Formats: sequence, structure tokens, C-alpha cells
Amino acid sequence: MTSEIVVDPAPHPAWLPDGALAAAGRRRVAVATPEPAEPQRGGVAPPGSDSSPQVVATLRAELERATAAHGGAVVDPDGSPDLLLALVHEVSGPGARLPARGPDTSGGDGFRIVRDGGRVTVTAETPTALLHGWFHVVRHGETAFTGPDVDERHAPAFALRVLDHWDNVDVHPVMGQVERGYSGGSIFYADGRVRDDLSRVTTYARLLAATGVDRVCINNVNVHAREARLLTDDLPEVARVAAAMRPYGVRTHLAVSFAAPMTLGGLPTSDPLDDDVRAWWRAAADRVWATIPDFGGFVVKADSEGQPGPFAYGRDHADGANLLAEAVAPHDGVVHWRAFVYDHTQDWRDRTTDRARAAYDHFAPLDGRFADNVVVQVKHGPIDFQTREAVSPVLAGMPATRLALELQVTQEYTGQQRHACYLAPWWSENLGFRPWGAGEDGAAVRDVVAGRGPSAPAAVADAGGGGIAAVSNVGDDRFWTGHPLAQANLYAFGRLAWDPTLEPAAILDEWVGLTFAGPDGGLEPRVREALHAVLDDSWRTYESYTAPLGVGFMVRPGHHYGPDVDGYEYTPWGTYHFADRDGIGVDRTRATGTGFTGQYPEPWRDVYEDLATCPDELLLFFHHVPYTHVLRSGVTVVQHVYDTHFAGVERVREAVAAWESLADLVPGALPADVDARVRERLAEQLRSAVEWRDQLNTYFFRKSGIPDAHGRTIF
Ligand code: GCU
Repeated sequence: MTSEIVVDPAPHPAWLPDGALAAAGRRRVAVATPEPAEPQRGGVAPPGSDSSPQVVATLRAELERATAAHGGAVVDPDGSPDLLLALVHEVSGPGARLPARGPDTSGGDGFRIVRDGGRVTVTAETPTALLHGWFHVVRHGETAFTGPDVDERHAPAFALRVLDHWDNVDVHPVMGQVERGYSGGSIFYADGRVRDDLSRVTTYARLLAATGVDRVCINNVNVHAREARLLTDDLPEVARVAAAMRPYGVRTHLAVSFAAPMTLGGLPTSDPLDDDVRAWWRAAADRVWATIPDFGGFVVKADSEGQPGPFAYGRDHADGANLLAEAVAPHDGVVHWRAFVYDHTQDWRDRTTDRARAAYDHFAPLDGRFADNVVVQVKHGPIDFQTREAVSPVLAGMPATRLALELQVTQEYTGQQRHACYLAPWWSENLGFRPWGAGEDGAAVRDVVAGRGPSAPAAVADAGGGGIAAVSNVGDDRFWTGHPLAQANLYAFGRLAWDPTLEPAAILDEWVGLTFAGPDGGLEPRVREALHAVLDDSWRTYESYTAPLGVGFMVRPGHHYGPDVDGYEYTPWGTYHFADRDGIGVDRTRATGTGFTGQYPEPWRDVYEDLATCPDELLLFFHHVPYTHVLRSGVTVVQHVYDTHFAGVERVREAVAAWESLADLVPGALPADVDARVRERLAEQLRSAVEWRDQLNTYFFRKSGIPDAHGRTIF
């Protein structure tokens, strides 16, 4: 008789194992809702499409689950509960209506929490906000109840907090089911259609609600023929996805094709100024909202990497975006219009065309022309989600436009979830960058995308800017993210979307405490220490053994994994490093280069322009220098390459050792399946880091002829 292998189909609980609910679950908890219940959305909504009663039901179910697991009880609001979650018509009392900072543009997502002698009361005006309050209590564990008395109000910094899925309905012949996905298949689609069983999508929405993300775009920005039909024929299927996320207050968005009036509507044109085209989009939007009344809006990648757009008709991106904005406006919908527009058919011989300039050149002149419900979504850097690049000058160049910062949680260029690379420090740097300098008083990127940049007009400020979006790293993998430790990136994105001033190490600490909580909520301290050792500095470690000093790319073309120094050097993609026997780097100065530095306001336009002041880590992004150029750190460029690549591999070895030091905790404090997967990934990371080190060092040694000052092995 052969023994049957039982595969556990349940996804890993990520940061919400039942153990994480212990503190509240041990206590007497209650939910109070006022009568009558929440006002309904205007118009006639199909049954089940109003989120409010559903989210209240979710909240009750959360409390039942927690108390059932830990021995507490759900009691009547009048039964002196230890935790009362109360939906109120208006949050009153001290601090009421006072958001955590800035104008409260959170759409009522904020909540007030009062702890008085160990009793905790959370009040909020919407069920979704109350749900956020519940997860706040969960996150704080015992200290939510035992800390000093507090009366605080919490509200998200950004009104729009979105995860974009690059999921295809059909498996794409080159890009697969999930473009740049490293976590298996799609949680939304299988076999060329929306999955029958969407329970995992609901679990995903639960995880997101616990971080603060409240919108998900469910299909790839590269909208192929099959996926375009989500907007029309497949609407009932999209409605099922929306229904699966609604109980956790997460709204659905779709990426749409600018050519849809032709490809789906049979019109002869998609010209944004054509009346039939405008009518087609209005009717399409009307159908979407008739089917899904709490639908969020559209995401558009236009005139970019082969996607159709307004250029075909001699129109610009404001014309294009405003066409869709007009169609969704009656439904309070929003259009996320991406600024990732550049020439991907460049001639590598032409050194005057600079891909870094493209987004600003296309979009900055359009500032002030976008409709109020358009958000221009800007990648954090001017090139493409590299491990290190300058912050996009577009973020400082469009004060009259609602701008969103776009990040990439999926690790396309940062190790593809085979390498442990905790990205929160990198995102924090971007969010905290002050484009106008002025020290601590200057506005930062996080202010700009919250609608609080310098000279933001009322329309931008009142809307709370464009917020934040990121490409998700989730798939149908048992651990959601391939590498179990890549869950920390998803968690951190959600937390930064709620509060961009949080410290990355503190976010990691939260994530560890929740994810590795034992059945009673406790955490083995060595697990915490080891995870900090592996992850805290892992982004800088990754940077140290890959492309140096901000030069970027140097990855294998196509799939973008592993080293290939010249892989993109003679391609049409505009991603060059210009290494020759004497030196390396891209001259983007105004004096002798492409003039890109001129897209920044003071002080950065001059800081980056001048070799003497340009930060080392971005040196090759802005300047072409000899290998013998001495960095501000005191070593030459080529010696820096050698030193960082040798050191980077050593740091990976240390990470491996830190993880291995936990071996005696498996399978107790550390689940065996997590341990096995992490070990497998760390082994690959070490192999790959050695490969990066040896290829990069050898390349630079052969180009420059300059030996390593310390005589280490270079091939
Ligand atoms: C990168 C990525 C593509 C993606 C594009 C985008 O270039 O490699 O797969 O489509 O970004 O952001 O649109």
C-alpha cells in the first residue's frame, strides 16, 4: 500500500495567524453599530454590493474568530467589554476630526482609539475605518490593553492606497500568467478565466485591510486582447472578484486599453476628441458601475512599450486621460494614468536621447491640464524600478496635478523573490526625499503625493493628492510571495501607504511579531533578532553585489535575473552604462551631457550637476567618470566595485548563518515549511551573489586593467 501525500492547500497565514489575535481574543470584546445603519450609496445598488453591512459582518466574524481561538467572548456593548469597536455618526471627543497630520482627506478611513484604565474604545464613522481600528489593536497585541492611557486619532496619510496586479487572464507566451510575477500563478485567474473559487482573494483582502491598502487593480497594465474584455463581456466575472474583496473594504480597479473603442467597440478610431469615442467610454463606464457600484476606477498605460495611446491621433496625454476621466466622473471614479512613457526603440549609438528625461519631457508641460479625477502615476525613479536611481523629477515638476508615487513590491530588479531584499528602507528614502531641499522643513515626496506639495492648488490639496500605488508581489504560491520573507515587503508597503513616516525597522518588527506569533501570541526573541539580521540591511547588501553607484541594469535581458553587464548595452531600451577602457557612467549634466539634471529644482539640479557634490551612490547615474575617480568615500570607482562586491557576498553568508542559527527552533517557533523554503532561497541568493561578484569584478578588471588593491581573486 502506498502512503498518500497530503498537500495542505491552505495558504500560509502570513501576518494574520490566529496567534496574532491572542491579546484581543482572550478578552471580552464588542461591536456597536448605531441605528439606522450606515447611509446607503446613492442610486439603486444590486443586492450585496453595498460594502457597509458586509464590513460590519466581517468585523463581527473577526471578533468571533479571535475569541473562539483564545477563550475570550463577544459580549454586548453594554456588558463592560475590554474592547469596544463602535461605529458612530460622528467621531467626538478630544482630537475628534483632527487627523494624524494634515487635512483629513482619507475619505473617513480614520479612527479614534481611547485606552482608559485598560479598557479600549475604538470609534469610527465607517465600517472600513472601524476595521482598520481593529487591526490596529491586533498589531499592538498586549500593549494595546496594557499601555498607558491614550486618546489618539489615526488616519491614513494618503486617500488612495493601491496595489496593481500585473496578472494576465490568459497565460502570456512570454510574460506568463503574472508579468514579473515570482509567486506562481494568479490568485484571480486560472485556465483563461476568473477562478471559480475566490476564497483566497478574500483572504488576500483581509491581509491588505490589516495593513491599510484599500484598492486593488486586478489586471496587467499591458492589456492584451483577452484581458481587454474584462471591461465588457467579463464584467459579471469582475463583479465576482469585487464581491470577494468587498467584505474587507477593498475596492476593485481595472487596467484598460486605450484602443478599446476600436478593439471592443468596433469604432474606426480611439481619438480622445472624437464624440463617438467619448460616448463609447461613457457607456462602458456606466455599465461597469451599474454592475459594481463601488468600483474604483481605471488604470492606463498608454503610448508606452507598445501600448496604444493618444499620440496616434496627434493628441497628448492630458487629452487621453481626460477622456476617461469624463467617463468615470459621474460615478466618482478615478483614472490612474501612468507617466511611464519613453522611447523603447532608441538607437544605442545616439547619446543625446536620454530615457531618464522622457517622463518629465512628456508630462511636466501638461501640468494643470488634467481633470480633477485624474491621478498621474509616477514611477519612483526616472528609469525603471532599479535598486538605486535618483527620485523622478516629475514628482517635483507638476504642482497642479494629483500625483501618485508608484513603487514595485514584486522584486523584478531586486532579486525576484529568490533574494531576501527588504525594500522598505529604499521606499522610505524615496518618500522622504525633499525635492526642494530646505532640510527638515522642506516638503518631501510623501507630502507631494498627499496633495501638500508647494503651491498645490485647492483641487489637488482637497483631493489629498494622488497617493501611492505599487506592483504587487502576490501569487497563488503557498507563501503568497514565493520567498516567505518577501511577505515583509507587501506588509511594509501597506504600512507605508498608511503612514509613510514609519521606520522600516519598526515595520519589520511588527511584521515579525505578527507573522511568527506562537499560538498564544508570544514570539521567540531569537527569531526577531535573526530576521533583523537577515533583512534590515538586505537592500543595501543587494545593491553592493549588483550594479554599482546607481548605474542600474546590468541584468540579463528579458527576464532581468542575474548579471549580464553588457546585456542591455547595444539594445533599443535606453538603459546604457557606456563602460569603456577608461571609465563608466551616464553623463546627464547640463554642461556636457543630456541635461537631465536641469529637470530638478534647486538645490538638486546643482548638487547632481557637480561631481564634487553628487552623492556617491548616484555618481554613475549622473556622471561618466574614469575608473580612477576618487569617490567622496575616499576610494576609487573601480576599487569601490571590488570592495562592495566582495563585502556583499560576505553579508549574504552572514544572513545564511543568521538563519541557520535558528535550526533548533524548527519546527517549534519556526514552521518547518517556512524554514525549508527560506533555506532554499538563501542558497540560491548566495550562489547568485557569487556569480554577480565574479562577473562584475572580472568585467571591471578586464576593462580597466586595474588590479584589486587587496589582491583578492578576480578572474
Ligand atoms: C518594466 C517591466 C515591464 C512592465 C513595465 C511597466 O519595464 O519590465 O514588464 O510592463 O515596467 O511598468 O509598464
